[in-house]
Amino acid sequence: MRIDIISVLPELLQGPFQHSILKRAQQKGLLEVQVHDLRAYGIGKHKQVDDYQFGGGAGMVMMIEPLLNCINDLRQEHRYDEIIYMTPDGERLNQPIANRLSMQENLLIICGHYKGIDERLREHVITREISIGDYVLSGGELAAAVLVDAVGRLLPGVLNDETSALFDSFQDKLLAPPVYTRPADFEGWEVPDILLSGNTAAIEEWRYDMALKRTRERRPDLLEDEE
Ligand code: ADE
Repeated sequence: MRIDIISVLPELLQGPFQHSILKRAQQKGLLEVQVHDLRAYGIGKHKQVDDYQFGGGAGMVMMIEPLLNCINDLRQEHRYDEIIYMTPDGERLNQPIANRLSMQENLLIICGHYKGIDERLREHVITREISIGDYVLSGGELAAAVLVDAVGRLLPGVLNDETSALFDSFQDKLLAPPVYTRPADFEGWEVPDILLSGNTAAIEEWRYDMALKRTRERRPDLLEDEE
């Protein structure tokens, strides 16, 4: 999969993909992430990318031209399955959305800033709008990093059997069960006996029960969605 990201703050996206699982995914050639500096497409001497909003009011709006020129340049090279705009008023990101996006070949992600992007781009160019939660970030970069991480780790071959995404929270609409490692007894804090029993079937059943209990207690809405 290839993911292009357009941003006015490309430095913000230098770190997140250079470690651990996403770094390995790129080294293995399973994922390519390219960040493009919108400023290079800015207008005039000052490389302007935003302007006052029509109708008045505080806050600048990202202009059509620089964004569209950048998008069109990229479109010459790649056929995008989705052109995604990160915005707090988008569809809220969840595991099924990440699963579906991970099956695509080419994604283009636009990071907003200020008051957002000119609405006409949303009408005519953007194919999908995604929010990472009901709070407002100062720009779309961190949201884009979250999306790339959530999608990138799902690509076939990125995770090994032990870290398989199949057992993540949310994949079966259940939160993950509790996990423990050595020592089995830390100053009287003991690991549940069942996990030391060696009885695989009983352990699986316990894990399922705990996942269900945790989901009922913390996220009953996930179970309601089932009905
Ligand atoms: N940009 C600003 N806030 C955001 C959010 N919550 N999700 C996605 N993009 C954003």
